[in-house]
Amino acid sequence: MGIEKKAFHQLSYGLYLAAGEYEDKRAACVINTAVQVSSDPFQLIIIVNKDNHTHELIEKSQKFVVMTLNQHCDMDFIKNFGFQSSKDVDKFAAYKTGSTTSGLSFVDCNQVSAVFECKVTGELDGHTHSIFLGEVVEAFEHDTTEKPLTYSYYRGTLKGKTPSKASSYVGDEPEHTEYEGAQKGIHRFECQICGYVYETEEEELPESFICPLCKAPKEKFKKIA
Ligand SMILES: Cc1cc2nc3c(=O)[nH]c(=O)nc-3n(C[C@H](O)[C@H](O)[C@H](O)COP(=O)(O)O)c2cc1C
Repeated sequence: MGIEKKAFHQLSYGLYLAAGEYEDKRAACVINTAVQVSSDPFQLIIIVNKDNHTHELIEKSQKFVVMTLNQHCDMDFIKNFGFQSSKDVDKFAAYKTGSTTSGLSFVDCNQVSAVFECKVTGELDGHTHSIFLGEVVEAFEHDTTEKPLTYSYYRGTLKGKTPSKASSYVGDEPEHTEYEGAQKGIHRFECQICGYVYETEEEELPESFICPLCKAPKEKFKKIA
């Protein structure tokens, strides 16, 4: 019967930040793959792409921090942590940070609802990704006034995009390419940073156009079918 890519969109997830640090380096990336494994002891798994800088620092330090995110998490936050590498930028610079008891950093803003620090107790090779098993050494709530951010809310309501390094990437963007509306005379422009799609009857975007979600300029938009 083969592999129907759309089937993978039926899997549900949350969205999280995974962070690692080693010596004077810090890295963090958005992940959709953090799961509680057990409660005695408390253990989590996270799945991280081997090319991500976060992966390198977790492997070297054998520790990681996972932060759960709130639904009002904005696209600047996702863009900062999910669409660029800590190899190139200090992703923490734009945010206030806090420290766990052992001194690992977490992002201290109201987009983070809880913080978990883990020591790595196992690593499974998942080809492009590694599955890190971690025993929780500290866990605390941060800002729990909002609902948790789910992957479905990110894709469906925020119109967020999934980059190729995400575990949930399936190699297509069906809701963008199979547009039910496909009305004549409507042009669609997709933000290459956050995936927001703008529809207009105009052939081109105005020069001053900026993405309402991630604030990327007009140049970052691509016309789509
Ligand atoms: C919605 C979304 C989900 C993602 N899920 C994962 C994931 O589960 N695992 C992963 O390794 N990367 C995932 N990524 C991609 C990383 O966040 C991205 O590659 C990041 O730029 C890596 O940063 P780093 O090099 O600083 O570690 C996801 C990104 C987004 C926006």
